[in-house]
Amino acid sequence: MRYDLHNNMQQEKVAIVTGSSSGIGYETSILLSKNGFHTYAAVRNLDKSKSLIDIAKKDDLLIDVVELDVSNDKSVKDAINRVLSENKRIDVVVNNAGYALVGSFEDLSMDEIKSQFETNFFGAIRVIQAVLPTMRNQRNGRIVNVSSMGGRIAIPLDSAYHGTKFALEGLSESLQYEVEQFGIKIIIIEPGAIKSNFFNNLKMASKAQRPDSPYIQMMQKLNAGFSFMLENAPHPVEVAKVILAAASSEDPQLRYTVGDDAAMIVQAKRTMSDREFGNLMRKQFLSQ
Ligand SMILES: NC(=O)c1ccc[n+]([C@@H]2O[C@H](COP(=O)([O-])OP(=O)(O)OC[C@H]3O[C@@H](n4cnc5c(N)ncnc54)[C@H](OP(=O)(O)O)[C@@H]3O)[C@@H](O)[C@H]2O)c1
Repeated sequence: MRYDLHNNMQQEKVAIVTGSSSGIGYETSILLSKNGFHTYAAVRNLDKSKSLIDIAKKDDLLIDVVELDVSNDKSVKDAINRVLSENKRIDVVVNNAGYALVGSFEDLSMDEIKSQFETNFFGAIRVIQAVLPTMRNQRNGRIVNVSSMGGRIAIPLDSAYHGTKFALEGLSESLQYEVEQFGIKIIIIEPGAIKSNFFNNLKMASKAQRPDSPYIQMMQKLNAGFSFMLENAPHPVEVAKVILAAASSEDPQLRYTVGDDAAMIVQAKRTMSDREFGNLMRKQFLSQ
């Protein structure tokens, strides 16, 4: 809650979470609303919002579902305008919508790569540009960008996905210096493997599925690596808890990893030479 000097009343803080139909976004919308945020759960397909609406009703949560496709300029503008017209403010934005394009770089088409960037990178940019003037005027705001441990390290056959997440990290790191003077904090969340629909929703590049792809054996090894990574992966609510704590902090860090795998691999990258780290990755993902 925050005290509004002009209206002399308590106001809820207002949050919007993209990609709330499942996984991390779904859990984050619920957790933010349970912790006093008037939360706009943004989904690109309203047909997938029934579970959110049911839980909001059952637990008497202040969740509004709003349609938002991050890859579409108008959809982003309409959604943010609705939040602003209903509240005149926006305190927390969670840029979470995303998916992974999988396939060797040689097997990726330009259209597949562009679509990957439209969602994971330009999608976050559209939302940030839509909320920044309001956050600057109110001299307060938290922009939470859901990156990945894959925004710090790269595995094979995921070059476009890593490209989007490394780009999001670079954008976030630069932007923090520009907006901190206006009370706006940029927060990067770096989950490791999380048991959500993410791995079912992977988009396999169409050429990568051909049996004559020169990278087919590498793809098979990678699939085995994914299964291993998911064995002890945390539930998406663990990411939501970190997002809530970071967004609620007066003085948040720039980066938060989630999961032991993310903490370990980011630490290894920091302390090892490129050659040592590369050999670790080869052993994990490419050896028999
Ligand atoms: N799970 C992991 O292991 C993991 C690890 C590191 C980082 N992450 C990151 O965490 C974020 C959330 O992933 P998740 O694990 O929760 O996966 P998820 O369950 O597949 O959720 C992805 C969400 O993004 C939405 N989305 C995709 N494209 C969209 C678009 N153009 N506009 C609006 N929404 C869109 C999906 O909506 P639909 O239901 O309509 O498809 C869904 O709500 C992603 O950015 C991902 O890169 C995940």
